[in-house]
Amino acid sequence: MKIMVVGGGGREHAIIKKIKENKDVERIYALPGNGGIAADAECVDIGAKDIEAIVKFAVDNGIDYAVVAPDDPLVLGCVDALEAKGVACFGPRANAAIIEGSKVFSKNLMKKYGIPTAAYEVFDDMEAALAYLETAPIPTVIKADGLALGKGVIIAQTLDEAKAAVVSMMQDKQFGASGDHIVIEEFLTGPEVSVLAFTDGKVVKPMISSMDHKRAGDNDTGLNTGGMGTVAPNPYYTEDIAKQCTETIFKPTIDAMNAEGRTFKGCLYFGLMLTPNGPKVIEYNCRFGDPETQVVLPLLESDLLTVMMATTKGTLDATEVKFSDKHACCVIMASAGYPQSYEKGFEMTIPTDIAPDVYVAGAKISDGKLLTNGGRVLGVTSIDDTLEGAIKASYEKVEKIRFENAYFRHDIGQRALAANKE
Ligand code: AMP
Ligand code: GLY
Repeated sequence: MKIMVVGGGGREHAIIKKIKENKDVERIYALPGNGGIAADAECVDIGAKDIEAIVKFAVDNGIDYAVVAPDDPLVLGCVDALEAKGVACFGPRANAAIIEGSKVFSKNLMKKYGIPTAAYEVFDDMEAALAYLETAPIPTVIKADGLALGKGVIIAQTLDEAKAAVVSMMQDKQFGASGDHIVIEEFLTGPEVSVLAFTDGKVVKPMISSMDHKRAGDNDTGLNTGGMGTVAPNPYYTEDIAKQCTETIFKPTIDAMNAEGRTFKGCLYFGLMLTPNGPKVIEYNCRFGDPETQVVLPLLESDLLTVMMATTKGTLDATEVKFSDKHACCVIMASAGYPQSYEKGFEMTIPTDIAPDVYVAGAKISDGKLLTNGGRVLGVTSIDDTLEGAIKASYEKVEKIRFENAYFRHDIGQRALAANKE
């Protein structure tokens, strides 16, 4: 089989390494991939948002199955365009990807179908939003409607901060057209859990839970990033809570999407907060999380490609999705300065013995050398019988990887370890 994976980050590298375990796979193309992914797939210089070129490549090269991994092409209708040419795909069509593409859509969906989430109001008029804030409880959370690279969420600790956020989104267009509509919502508290789930639109099979570390600095300080590390499973996500989430959140979401005529197939990501009033949805993503994928997929014991194809064919119920009962930890190595400005182009050395555990996010090959080429550069994953063991092994590998300007958090997994001891 010829497989094509759209995207070019650490998540895509993890997907590609796992798909390669399937014996029927002859070739894997990554569009665009990156200098690190090039060790595991044939990288093709087509951007993940260039739908027309992606479809042409798939048709010209007789692709048997396409995996569309990032949010942008999914929301732009990449799956629809590929399917129209007869290419089978993993991922939701545009009418279902809207669950991530529009926060107004997802909040209204949850309200209509009674799925627990933070209370909220939607605004398309700045004056009305500012007037509402005068009476809103503080802290409050302000979200731009569309995709904003995970940065369109502002948690305002004071009324002035909240007003400034509204003005920057709606008047100064800090996030472009995403700020035409905003959501102002209740500030929730509690541990956060990421649950990725396979679904064929009929049944939902949750993967092992995980915990992201979104802030740039140790002890959850500094700016929000795409994610500086992950562990799986998430110790806060007990069997009881999992059962509750399946009944009150996962199944109702799949049913709600069907009722709306927007059947969701692929990987649905539930960003949950375990509040004192029960688990609530913070956000949906229409795709695998990054860097959640880098700890979840290494623990998957079933064949990934088989499970993916079952979501497309609607045969997920009869397909085993089994996870190891071990622990995984992924530490992200970034360029100093990320998520703001940073330098790139530094040579990297990844010792061959640890290369299988490295998921490259931002690198390019130049004159035969692997150079850093992004904010998040790579992730290093380890699996062990214990969380302590997985954390220790990942940090030992981090020490062996060298590049100038490297930055990483030192405390990935510590919160999970402390929770285990509670
Ligand atoms: P998001 O980009 O939607 O994942 O939001 C980024 C982060 O903001 C989340 O991971 C949460 O930590 C936080 N957040 C979002 N919504 C809320 C909320 N209603 N209450 C408290 N924290 C929130
Ligand atoms: N790690 C969070 C995300 O992929 O959105």
